[in-house]
Amino acid sequence: MSSVIVELGARSYPVLIGSGLLPQVGHLLHSHGLGGRVLVGTNPLLQRYFGAPLEAALRAAGLEVSWHIVQAGERAKRLSNVEAACQAAIAAGLDRGGLVLALGGGVIGDLLGFTAAVLYRGVSFVQVPTTLVAMVDSSVGGKTGVNSRLGKNLIGAFWQPSLVVADLDTLRSLPARELRCGMGEVIKHGCILDRQLFERLEAELQPGQPTDYPLTARTGLSAELLQNCVERSCELKGAVVAADERESGQRAWLNFGHTFGHALEQVAGYGKLHHGEAVAIGCILAAQLGERRGDLPAGTAGRIAKVCAAAGLPTRLPAGTDPEAVQAVMQRDKKVRDGRLRLVLLRSLGEAMVVDDTPPALVREVLVAASREADDGDR
Ligand code: NAD
Ligand code: GLY
Repeated sequence: MSSVIVELGARSYPVLIGSGLLPQVGHLLHSHGLGGRVLVGTNPLLQRYFGAPLEAALRAAGLEVSWHIVQAGERAKRLSNVEAACQAAIAAGLDRGGLVLALGGGVIGDLLGFTAAVLYRGVSFVQVPTTLVAMVDSSVGGKTGVNSRLGKNLIGAFWQPSLVVADLDTLRSLPARELRCGMGEVIKHGCILDRQLFERLEAELQPGQPTDYPLTARTGLSAELLQNCVERSCELKGAVVAADERESGQRAWLNFGHTFGHALEQVAGYGKLHHGEAVAIGCILAAQLGERRGDLPAGTAGRIAKVCAAAGLPTRLPAGTDPEAVQAVMQRDKKVRDGRLRLVLLRSLGEAMVVDDTPPALVREVLVAASREADDGDR
């Protein structure tokens, strides 16, 4: 087991990463001074997969356990479910000394994290992430919240967990497409913060390699590389969060690829492209823009595209994507100020920057060129 500390003074916490951690969760909570009554939030599938070992582990350490089950999927991230989870906790007798534990991916983590932030004005929160996206991104950093009819993640709070326990064994049942989405976030971390990580992925991600994680065969990940990706991502994101918890500066870098990606998701129709897939294409487009601006050497976007392809991620716009529609959505992005689009781009591979001086005509050129090479379904 390895441990990455997110340094936030009195609110610092460890992210524990390894195999076989789920059966030890109760003991791990105990050794980090956490106990009392626990409300475990999850969805029906994950309760079926991991509920029994988790409950046994918590009870073995003397913790009292109640469950709160929400529907699977993004629709669970809504305010009425926060109220329901709070009521479940209060009805179960959880007091201010108790804790809320999220067992699941980013949806469960965001929903239960926000519940922990508002229950009795804040109780302890523990994340047990079960998707790669949650292990490398959403379980670290304390962004919690739910969606509104007017947009994603508009209602929420910064509420850091007290402990994150990432058991890599839980990924064995994760659908390969979800695993690839997590790899999109790892590639993003390499692009914006760590050239060495990027170059390691470039060298080692090779689809079809034999691996002891059956589902990783299609993403070219060995068990060792998977563990390293989670550890390094948590270190990188943890350091950014430690320096800029509330996103007044460098934390914005984590949004690399997101302005293009969100617009693509919306234009394609929500659900067609998974978020991680849209972000992967967005990272490539952002690098193409960097090349056209003269920030990046020619070929950088191609390198990113190659790594994304090796992870099984799409690299081209979906067929029929209208570049003007994508640009129109980008101009409505919440980061637009006085009509100027603020974009996270690369200063170089391994370092990002935020710019607001990109001529719209250049963005259009990138989108038009990409739409000429759109995916005809041959990936
Ligand atoms: P998710 O939570 O929707 O999980 C994806 C699917 O995988 C679900 O159907 C889930 O039931 C299933 N699943 C989860 N673990 C499994 C396992 N081990 N085996 C089999 N199936 C499993 O998706 P996600 O990608 O983890 O999270 C996306 C959400 O995270 C979005 O709502 C996004 O806004 C949020 N997010 C938040 C942050 C943050 O910093 N708070 C960062 C990134 C994403
Ligand atoms: N996922 C972006 C952030 O945590 O800031």
